[in-house]
Amino acid sequence: MPIDTSNDIVTLSLGTSSVKVALKGATVISYQHDGRERLFTSAKSNPSPSDKAAVRGGVPICWPIFGPPDLDNPLYAQLKQHGFARTGIWHLEDHHAADDTADGVKATFKLEPTPEIQAIYSQPFLLRYTVHLRPYTLSLSLAVTNPSSAIAPLHFQALLHAYFRLPDGVTPPEVRVTPLESLAFVDKVTGGEKGKETERRKVVDVDGPKGEVDRVYYRAPDHLELAFPTPTASASGSATDVLKVHKTNLPDVVLWNPGPEKGATIADMEEGGAGRYVCLEPGRVEPFEVLEPGSTWEGGIELSFA
Ligand code: BG6
Repeated sequence: MPIDTSNDIVTLSLGTSSVKVALKGATVISYQHDGRERLFTSAKSNPSPSDKAAVRGGVPICWPIFGPPDLDNPLYAQLKQHGFARTGIWHLEDHHAADDTADGVKATFKLEPTPEIQAIYSQPFLLRYTVHLRPYTLSLSLAVTNPSSAIAPLHFQALLHAYFRLPDGVTPPEVRVTPLESLAFVDKVTGGEKGKETERRKVVDVDGPKGEVDRVYYRAPDHLELAFPTPTASASGSATDVLKVHKTNLPDVVLWNPGPEKGATIADMEEGGAGRYVCLEPGRVEPFEVLEPGSTWEGGIELSFA
């Protein structure tokens, strides 16, 4: 069965690859590429709609804000960090398995205002999220519509907060991220200001004070790569495994790992979990997107491996 919908989780399968999407947040919670899991999802996290917290792992969708809300802006003041799209209960709107395997399997999820959302966010909106599994790639695409009946533009940030699982035995400081050289960034660990710092490194490792890295890079190239030493290469120092992230209409990118000490304080993090992933999160962070009534904005990522 290329598509299975049970227990509030939609599973798309294609040969030795599969993807699982929880209706809570339309969160992709698993991506098996060629039989190997490529995303990290904390064993302590619960993807069921009965649990109100966002999934800790996979690819949560941050919308309509990224990070903590601006408490001075009444539109966002009642929102939680990263907004409500990652905790809202989405509906499976459509799915399709192509006759030709090369075209893969696709599912589209939809989120519209519910009474719970309207209690904290007054703007009308429509979100659609399309998950498309093909033999060698996974594409995730978010579409935001400001309905034509709306009376004001929709201002939002949007970000796909991907937790990429590291191969067994590989730690975050061994991961290499490119190409971020020459980009302006904000370092949230040191509390730096935007526009003050520029990345000088050709190859960026995922390491910082006590292992913590939390940076927003602005206007990043659309092709990004995470290179992991393979378990055998850790010893021999040769081969690497490369994850390619191609982003579209998501100009910025966040690189995050809390490090072991801070990671251990995250309530829904499995023991030692922070050492098993690196978050690379393409998004529209600054400035906010401004979408006129009757318009649709779309942004997404495509993952592939080399
Ligand atoms: C990252 C932020 O995107 O998400 C970090 O840059 C934050 O500052 C992290 O700690 C996790 O956020 P949350 O709300 O899922 O714990």
